[in-house]
Amino acid sequence: ARVSLWGGRFAGGPADALAALSKSTHFDWRLAPYDLAGSRAHARVLHSAGLLDDATLQAMLDGLEALRADVESGQFVPEASDEDVHTALERGLIERAGADIGGRLRAGRSRNDQVATLFRMYLRDEARTISALVLDVVDALVAQADRHLGVAMPGRTHLQHAQPVLLSHHLLAHAWALLRDVDRFRDWDARAAVSPYGSGALAGSSLGLDPEAVAADLGFSTSVENSIDGTASRDFAAEFAFVTAMVAVDISRIAEEVVLWATKEFSFVTLHDSYSTGSSIMPQKKNPDVAELARGKAGRLIGDLAGLLATLKALPLAYNRDLQEDKEPVFDAVDTLDVLLPAFAGMVDTMAFDEKRVESLAPQGFSLATDIAEWLVRQGVPFRIAHEVAGACVRDCEAHGIELWDLGDDDLLRISEHLTPGVREVLTVEGSLASRNAKGGTAPARVRDQLVSVKAVVGAR
Ligand code: ARG
Repeated sequence: ARVSLWGGRFAGGPADALAALSKSTHFDWRLAPYDLAGSRAHARVLHSAGLLDDATLQAMLDGLEALRADVESGQFVPEASDEDVHTALERGLIERAGADIGGRLRAGRSRNDQVATLFRMYLRDEARTISALVLDVVDALVAQADRHLGVAMPGRTHLQHAQPVLLSHHLLAHAWALLRDVDRFRDWDARAAVSPYGSGALAGSSLGLDPEAVAADLGFSTSVENSIDGTASRDFAAEFAFVTAMVAVDISRIAEEVVLWATKEFSFVTLHDSYSTGSSIMPQKKNPDVAELARGKAGRLIGDLAGLLATLKALPLAYNRDLQEDKEPVFDAVDTLDVLLPAFAGMVDTMAFDEKRVESLAPQGFSLATDIAEWLVRQGVPFRIAHEVAGACVRDCEAHGIELWDLGDDDLLRISEHLTPGVREVLTVEGSLASRNAKGGTAPARVRDQLVSVKAVVGAR
């Protein structure tokens, strides 16, 4: 027979079709350990309020412990008739501790404050797990930056050659973005560390239970100021979903570059065999599937965030059943990052750069033209004119099929009286790189400093 939590008012049980719609155990079961922790804390607070005597508390905690062990071993699982994780665990407790003891635990709490609390606990744990996985990707980027310190590459804007930069500088740009995502999880945690337990269905509890005690018991820093807010708000979930989507988007930007770098045309990297796939028909193929999946999964995580926000939009206070839809998008985001990030870190860590190839392209595409303009500025020429002159050098080179450093002394003077042979000093990749030596710049000395600071930041996380 179908057991429900609200028998008294109803003449019969729910229709099968309603039960099928209502059911959430197939996805919320992962919250079971948190529900059990919440139940232990709730039992203790009922006891502190004088609502359970010592023996009853002990019997309840024993029952919960037996249930915890059975959940952990897989011996206790939801039945077809259990609506959600909370219903299933109440049944499990009653089976172990008896209906009298098991039936006392529900006093002063509602699934509304329960689920709001458990979901926060679960996400706080996952935020730590995901942060560690993101840091593994950062480590892989830093290791590559370390390995190739000093190697120049074509820096791009609009995907066109722009100015030479150090390969390490480029890789570390991705590392900083990911470190901010790790920081976002930390900032988020301070807001998520507030317990809704004690909010009841929406109005709080009349039983003299201390929400702060439950909060402390469950590792929260405090309890909510407003029970309606405690049961109805899901911005903590939306913000978590945003951070996971941002991680995926940041990863996808690396992924897109890896896909390009691994093409014949770029030939910047070779992916390790263990992080590449082949083709069932074309024997020569070596495909960057890890990077492509990363790119693809980012779309999925954006969808998770958008779906959750759509669920929350215009939802009146307080709890509405729509809120049961808050979990799957976030669980999907968590599960996706759990498989994506380790593979991505492995791919980044093991990809082999063709240093010579990367470096040989650094000065191509007239990427030193800005250096001519800035050299002229240092000679006292207004930038507007300097820009024109450097542009004229490029036009001249294009017309003759030569590079900037091939311009002879006469050519230079013909283009502008300011272009004395001294300009040649900056017409090398080394000169260009070394000149960008303010904080944050791509000069080798600054990138060495950057490696030191990035490692310090990673160490502190
Ligand atoms: N399983 C529900 C959820 O995840 C909690 C149950 C609250 N149900 C209710 N009828 N108040 O949101």
